[in-house]
Amino acid sequence: MSKYLVAPSILSANFAKLGEETTNVLNAGGDVIHFDVMDNHYVPNLTIGPMVLKSLRDYGIAAPIDVHLMVKPVDDLIPEFARVGANYITFHPETSEHVDRTLQIIKENGCKAGLVFNPTTSLNYLDYIMDKLDIILIMSVNPGFSNQSFIPSTLDKLIDARKRIDQSGYNIILEIDGGIKIDNIRKAAEFGANMFVIGSAIFSSNNYKKIINSMRNEIEKVIA
Ligand code: DX5
Ligand code: ZN
Repeated sequence: MSKYLVAPSILSANFAKLGEETTNVLNAGGDVIHFDVMDNHYVPNLTIGPMVLKSLRDYGIAAPIDVHLMVKPVDDLIPEFARVGANYITFHPETSEHVDRTLQIIKENGCKAGLVFNPTTSLNYLDYIMDKLDIILIMSVNPGFSNQSFIPSTLDKLIDARKRIDQSGYNIILEIDGGIKIDNIRKAAEFGANMFVIGSAIFSSNNYKKIINSMRNEIEKVIA
């Protein structure tokens, strides 16, 4: 993998022209498309499912797609997303009765697997599963909506997660999601993140390339 990944979240895109928006954000320099799935049950919002992911693949989107599942129950949706072209699938431990089994389902379906931590969810879930993870995602807002304010205390958790990854010796991506803007992305990089989900900061701009380049400049002050 490259040293870090920029993952535009299409939750903030114009859904009436999602194919075009996704192409534009990739042409502007996005590495991975972050795809937020919300069920109005685990989180108070309702978004997009496997049919929409399939439409993007049919439209010609070839970039890796990072499916962030905020749904409960979670297991049955995993093969659906894998079948239509997901590459990474992450889920919240609170949504699974058997976290280890859910990770196995993701892997069996040929995807990279990750666990997502809400601002108050303990990292203790990581104690016995580092060998089974490709991604750890630290939420820096409460999941459910784009354009919320970054919660500063989640930076401490990012440091803890970085320590755990370094101590484990495994090659695990450390992803951060929520409220990432030009004025805090550098801190996130300093504290150990190497995959950056960016939603409203990109899509509220009228020049995606310019904002992604500025984000990269900030990250590269830390990750050369
Ligand atoms: C929030 C989602 C995020 C969201 C990020 O629950 O998981 O991926 O789209 O959007 P911004 O960058 O606007 O906070
Ligand atoms: Zn997300």
